[in-house]
Amino acid sequence: MDLEALTRYCEGVSLPQAAILQELERETNLKTLKPRMLSGHLQGNVLYFLVQISGAKHILEIGTFTGYATLAMAYALSPDGHITTIEANPELAFISDKYFKKSGLSAQIHQIFGDAKEEVNKLSGPFDLVFIDAGKKDNAYYYEAVLPKVKSGGLILVDNVLWSGKVLDDPMDKHTQIIHDFNTQMSADSRVESLYLPMRDGLAIFRKK
Ligand SMILES: C[S@@+](CC[C@H](N)C(=O)[O-])C[C@H]1O[C@@H](n2cnc3c(N)ncnc32)[C@H](O)[C@@H]1O
Repeated sequence: MDLEALTRYCEGVSLPQAAILQELERETNLKTLKPRMLSGHLQGNVLYFLVQISGAKHILEIGTFTGYATLAMAYALSPDGHITTIEANPELAFISDKYFKKSGLSAQIHQIFGDAKEEVNKLSGPFDLVFIDAGKKDNAYYYEAVLPKVKSGGLILVDNVLWSGKVLDDPMDKHTQIIHDFNTQMSADSRVESLYLPMRDGLAIFRKK
């Protein structure tokens, strides 16, 4: 089975990619060193649907990159909703700022430039949905930092939990082992209900009880 071809097929029959997101993706491909970090069409749609279905109004994203997921979620927000998004690298702002403005949603997006490990502790919440998508070795740190700030019934999403399938390797390299350890700990965490989706690089959804 060709997973990439199936992903393209699913994209073709799903909600179309908004023109601004297409443009943002193209500019990210042309002007950044690691464009694959961007969520993209299918995962962007999943984020959009999760925000819409859950009715999330207060969202936190850790790891903005060029703002694809930020905007995908912002499109699903009600006018009184807002997203705070944290990014360590201010050199990416020339893309994210441009598309936040172009979308007409910049008033609902609060972007913080800084180290999320520090910035996350300055935010009080409460959040309805948190998307953790920065340094993967810090997933457990971010998860513990945000869980008390997430409302009961709220969602925490964590990206890249399958690490290109390397979580099945035996033995695993050091980095994969950290991701696998996080996944194993999460499966025993009684504070949440967990759902792991083998979509793209693996997306985990935790619902706080
Ligand atoms: C996978 S990309 C985010 C992709 C984006 N969420 C999307 O879906 O389009 C990860 C981002 O996290 C940022 N990052 C890594 N470590 C960070 C930290 N400690 N604090 C804030 N941002 C960080 C990186 O600079 C990078 O832009």
